[in-house]
Amino acid sequence: MGSCHYFILLTVIASSVATQVSFPHRIVGGEDANQNEFPYQVSIQAFGRHFCGGSIIGPEQVVTAAHCLRAIPAAFAGLHVVAGKHNLALREDFSQTLQVVKIIRHPKYDVTSVQNDIGILITEKPFEFNTEVQPIRPMPANSTEEGDSVVTGWGVVYENDTRIPDILQKVTVPILPQRTCVRVLKIGRALYNPAVMICAGDLAGGRDSCQGDSGGPLALDTVDDNGHKTRYLVGIVSWGYGCARKGLPGVYTKVSSFHDFISEVQKALN
Ligand SMILES: *[C@@H]1O[C@H](CO)[C@@H](O)[C@H](O)[C@H]1NC(C)=O
Ligand SMILES: *[C@@H]1O[C@H](CO)[C@@H](O)[C@H](O)[C@H]1NC(C)=O
Repeated sequence: MGSCHYFILLTVIASSVATQVSFPHRIVGGEDANQNEFPYQVSIQAFGRHFCGGSIIGPEQVVTAAHCLRAIPAAFAGLHVVAGKHNLALREDFSQTLQVVKIIRHPKYDVTSVQNDIGILITEKPFEFNTEVQPIRPMPANSTEEGDSVVTGWGVVYENDTRIPDILQKVTVPILPQRTCVRVLKIGRALYNPAVMICAGDLAGGRDSCQGDSGGPLALDTVDDNGHKTRYLVGIVSWGYGCARKGLPGVYTKVSSFHDFISEVQKALN
C-alpha cells in the first residue's frame, strides 16, 4: 500500500485534480438508479451546483456530513437542497428545491480526525412528501449494523475523475464487521474510530462511494418478525483512502451513534 492519502468525499469544485484517470473502476462499480427509487436522497447545491449528498429525515430536516458544511457561512442565501432529483442535467417538474435557513454542524466535529462527521440542514419550509420525496428513518441508538446496504449519490464514478454523472448512481456494499474495519484501515494517522464510524465495501475493491457522494445515504433494509420491511439510514458518506481500492472499504458516519444529536435538533424545532 503506497499511499496514505485519504479523501474527504465532497466534489472537487475547482478542478485542481490532474487528469490521470486510468483507474478501471466505476460510484464506483454501480449503476443508474431508477427514477425516484431513493426518495430520501437530496442533492445539496451552492448556487445551483451539486457538491454533496444528503438524506431527508424530517419535514424540513436534511442530514449530511459536517465536512460538507465546513466552508459555508452561517447565513448563506445560495445554499439549497434539491429533493426528488434524478438527472441533474434536466429540469424535473417533480423535484423540490428548498432554501436552507439553518446549518447545524455537530459541535464535536473534528476536521483533522474526521470524527463526528454529521450535520443537519433546516429548510425554509417543509418538503411536500409524495412518491418522489420521502424521509428515511435514522438507525436507532445501540444498533448493530450488518448486511448488504445501498449507497447512492452523484459522486464521480472513478477515483480522481473530474466530472460527476448526471444520473443518480447506486451500489450495494456489505457493511463489514468493526474488527475488520479497524484492521484494514489502520493506516497513517489511524483515523478509523468504530465508536462513530462504520465501514462498508468489497475488500476485493471495485465498489465504493467517491468524491461528490459525501453526506449522502448508506441505507439498510431490515425485516421485523411480522415480515414488515423498514429501510434505515445507517451511514453518511464520509471518507476513504481513494475510492474502491482493493482492501480499503469506504468509511461512513455511524448514524446510530448520533441518535441524541438528531433528536435534540428535532426537538428544538417543535
Ligand atoms: C488520485 O490522486 C491522488 C492524489 O493526487 C493520487 O495519490 C492517487 O494515486 C490518484 N489515484 C488514481 C487512481 O489515479
Ligand atoms: C444505549 O446504550 C447506552 C449504554 O449502554 C445506554 O445508556 C442508553 O440508554 C442506550 N440508548 C438507547 C436509546 O437504548
